[in-house]
Amino acid sequence: MPNEDYANRIFLALDVILAQLSVNICRLYVRFTDKLTAKRKFIVNFAVNLNAKTMTLHSNVKHVTTHVLLAMKLKGEKIAMLTAYDYSFARLLDQAGIDVILVGDSASNVMAGYETTLPITLDNMIYHAASVVRATSRALVVVDLPFGTYQGDSKEALVSAIRIMKETGASAIKMEGGIEIKESIERILSAGIPVMGHLGLTPQAIHKFGTYVVRATDKEEAGKLKSDAMVLAEAGCFAVVLEKIPAKLAGEVTKEIKIPTIGIGAGADVSGQVLVLHDMLGITQEFSPRFLRRYHNLQMEVKGAVKNYIEDVRSQAFPNKNEQY
Ligand code: KIV
Repeated sequence: MPNEDYANRIFLALDVILAQLSVNICRLYVRFTDKLTAKRKFIVNFAVNLNAKTMTLHSNVKHVTTHVLLAMKLKGEKIAMLTAYDYSFARLLDQAGIDVILVGDSASNVMAGYETTLPITLDNMIYHAASVVRATSRALVVVDLPFGTYQGDSKEALVSAIRIMKETGASAIKMEGGIEIKESIERILSAGIPVMGHLGLTPQAIHKFGTYVVRATDKEEAGKLKSDAMVLAEAGCFAVVLEKIPAKLAGEVTKEIKIPTIGIGAGADVSGQVLVLHDMLGITQEFSPRFLRRYHNLQMEVKGAVKNYIEDVRSQAFPNKNEQY
């Protein structure tokens, strides 16, 4: 990793530590001094707490970078990540303040209707990612390298990653796997492309697993996951997704490695969370794992609106006099 990169990370971390320190010194002073009346203590405390709140990185940052995510982990601020695959949804997510948009290869399922993530191509991913980048001004956009574009060798992996960066304008790529893809990760990083890792239930390996059940429940797989997470962090990945693994294990990994962990079905003791947008909005209904919280029932709303439209067209209630020229 270049020196400048290290310097940036160190400055951002120092910034966070100094700001936190000044808040804590003020709090201690107010608590132990006898020079302030109770009323003054209340006012100073109020001001310090307000300042501490507005100091949150996510509320101050104009553009989320990989360094910001690292600083968020150091500060204990949780990272919010969602998938998006098109301009309109990406724009809404960005405007709502999401930290990271993942152009996931789950596009293969939710956009193209395939059963697995395997069929989606690099050209398909580039099309989706370019649309998302055009909609985004604040969020960090990360793009999945699809199945078959990096497992061959590290040169193929670099060529695929470069195509994504050049043709979409995204800021980072994501790859599934641990030690097996270390060489590819290092080659991509050495070209200046940030890499997010992905461990646990890696959907591109679904035919190896044979099932979508929780991974790393036995000692051997949990041990391999821990050592893979360390490999990814030491290779220079800026974050790692942990999918469908026991919460305790995810918490341990988060403590052991320096980079942020983003969980999906990995419990609360991780640095951030990710969900597939179409699942959390309730557009998809067939898929209901325990970890999935639905924040809306968009399927019902969309169907309701479409039914109303059909009825209006058939009954000629639409268009009315004000809706024509
Ligand atoms: O493709 C995807 O949506 C993902 C998330 C589930 C992390 O990889």
